[in-house]
Formats: sequence, structure tokens, C-alpha cells
Amino acid sequence: MKDIDWGNLSFSYMDTGAFVKAEYHDAKWGKIEKCTDAHMPLHIAATSLHYGQSCFEGLKTFTMKNGEVAIFRPEENARRMFETADRLMMVGPPEELFVEACYEAVRLNRDYVPPYGTGASMYLRPLLIGTTPRVGVQAAEDFLFVVLAMPVGPYYKNGFFPVKSWVQEKYDRAAPHGLGHVKAAANYVAGLKGDYEGKKLGYPICMYVDSAEHKYIEEFGTSNFVGITADKKYITPASDSILKSITNKSLQTLAEDMGYTVERRLIAFDELSKFSEVGACGTAAVITPIHSVTRGDKTITFGSADKAGEVLTAMFKELQGIQYGDVADRHGWMKVVK
Ligand code: PLP
Ligand code: COI
Repeated sequence: MKDIDWGNLSFSYMDTGAFVKAEYHDAKWGKIEKCTDAHMPLHIAATSLHYGQSCFEGLKTFTMKNGEVAIFRPEENARRMFETADRLMMVGPPEELFVEACYEAVRLNRDYVPPYGTGASMYLRPLLIGTTPRVGVQAAEDFLFVVLAMPVGPYYKNGFFPVKSWVQEKYDRAAPHGLGHVKAAANYVAGLKGDYEGKKLGYPICMYVDSAEHKYIEEFGTSNFVGITADKKYITPASDSILKSITNKSLQTLAEDMGYTVERRLIAFDELSKFSEVGACGTAAVITPIHSVTRGDKTITFGSADKAGEVLTAMFKELQGIQYGDVADRHGWMKVVK
């Protein structure tokens, strides 16, 4: 076990000295290999550098109460990376290769998996890039798949604590029928400037509305939108330009378990004030309660500025309870690393 202040980790890169890779050449995937040097040679004309053939995933590993180390729903991330790769004209790793690479990255970094009870987890970052040199705009025929692993703390510095959000309207993030539904690296560079402007104004998290009309709520820069109503509804946007969040999918299941009605539908921005609680959900964000949303000179607030609402608190506890093994894994989400 590494000598790390587990309880005070932030969400930052850490070089653990080992990661895994697999390469795709001549129409087939090679074996999973261990790598120790974080710098890898890449052709200066690689399609990932020039034409953005790059995508990634994010998933977490936990030490559970019984001492086992388990990954949360890795097969879901495998499927999403495969779908993303297809949209970007890349060849995604098959599910078995993806999941085994995640297991192997955890095994190699076992000493970096935060112990039970610290509130921290190990973040896995699978990355897929096109490596064929091209100068004309064409897809690669060679790909590199890597999985990095590192211990992390909360994405927003105070953890499960309400944050202020701001609607970023100057820079759209995802076009209709574009890349928003997949985890293309391009989506994140599209959001960098907007997020930077939000942070400068004191808002740690930007909300994006639909690019065509700026009328409907889409999602936050790195997480999905969830709204709770007083009449026990869990409402989340239906849109083909938002990421299909695995956390959101899991919370929908838990919401139904808790007797909530789940609605996936268009949510007009004007409906926002009807929610009793609003949250941002994702692997890194887990559930981040949203205290307020500012759009232009108007601000809508939800609940208290220093305490999350009780429904999202219950959902957060249930999700984390399953992840840390405090609550029975009744849906079979935790995959133990052997
Ligand atoms: N939306 C965006 C834009 C994201 O980057 C993420 C993070 O992965 C999510 C939503 C949440 O997805 P997931 O719950 O699968 O991590
Ligand atoms: C995640 O939640 O895993 C993400 O990918 C969000 C962000 C860190 C890019």
C-alpha cells in the first residue's frame, strides 16, 4: 500500500508507474502489454493529432467493505467506447479486451487503490487514438488503446456539496447530430473556453442548452442533468447530443427502486424552477448537487446553499453504498478484480 493521504486526494493525474496498452495493426488487435514509461512515441502525422481521432472513457474502482477490489460496470464503458469509435471512424477494442485491460491496469496498480473508508477511489481512463500518419483527411488504420489508473478524490473540491452553475451560451458544445452522444475528445476541447469563462465568473460547472434553439436543457460539461420533483419524479433530458451517462442509467434504476417515476424527455429551460432538487451526475462528479443556475441576469436556486437535498442525498448514499459494498449489489454492477 502506498503512503498516500487518501482522504485528501483531488481529481488529478498521478503517474503510478504502470499502465497497459494494446495496439491495432493489420486489421487485428494485439495483446495487452504492461507499460512503464508514460511517454510514448507517436508519429507526427498521426490522425489523432491532426484530425481529432481520439476518444476516452472514465470509470471507477473501489475497495469494498469485504476487502475485494471491484470495478463499476466496466462492460457499459466498453460498449460506449465501441460506439464512440465507430462514430469517429475508429476501431474500438472488443468488450472482452476492454474489460480485461481495465482489470490488468488495476492489478498492476493494486497498491494505489484507495482503502475502504477513505472516500477515495481509483479512476480508470481508457483512451483510444488513431496512430496512422495521414495528411489528407482520412481515417486511421492503426490504433492505440491504453488504460491509465490513478487514485482520485472528488471532482469538485468540496465533494458532495452544492455548487453554483451557469448557462454557457456563447460557445455551444455539441451540434445536433454531431458528437455529443459519444465520448469524443473533441467534445471536451469544444467546452474548454466556455467552462473557463464560467469558472472566471465563479461558477465551477457550466450548463449547456441545445445548440439549435438554446431552449432545452442538455447537460453539464462533464456530467448529465437530473431534476427531482416534489411529486416523486426523476427527470432527465432525452437528446441525441448528450452523453449516455452510465451513472445516470444506474441512478434511474435506483430511483425506480426507491419508488420514483423516471422520465426521459425534452426539458425546456423554463421548467427548471419546477424542480425541487437538481444534480449533475457522472463518474467523476458522482452526484454533484446544483444549488443555483444563473442564465444572464436571472438566477434560479434549489434548496440550501450548504446542504444537498434529501432525495439526491439518498440516491448518492445508495449508489456509493453499492460501490463501496455497504449496500447489497442487487443489480450485479460491481465486477471483482481477481
Ligand atoms: N456527460 C459528459 C459530457 C461527461 O463527460 C460525462 C462523464 O463521463 C458524463 C456525462 C457522465 O457519464 P458517466 O456517468 O458514464 O461517467
Ligand atoms: C468522467 O466522469 O469520467 C469524465 O470523463 C468526466 C471528465 C473528467 C472528463
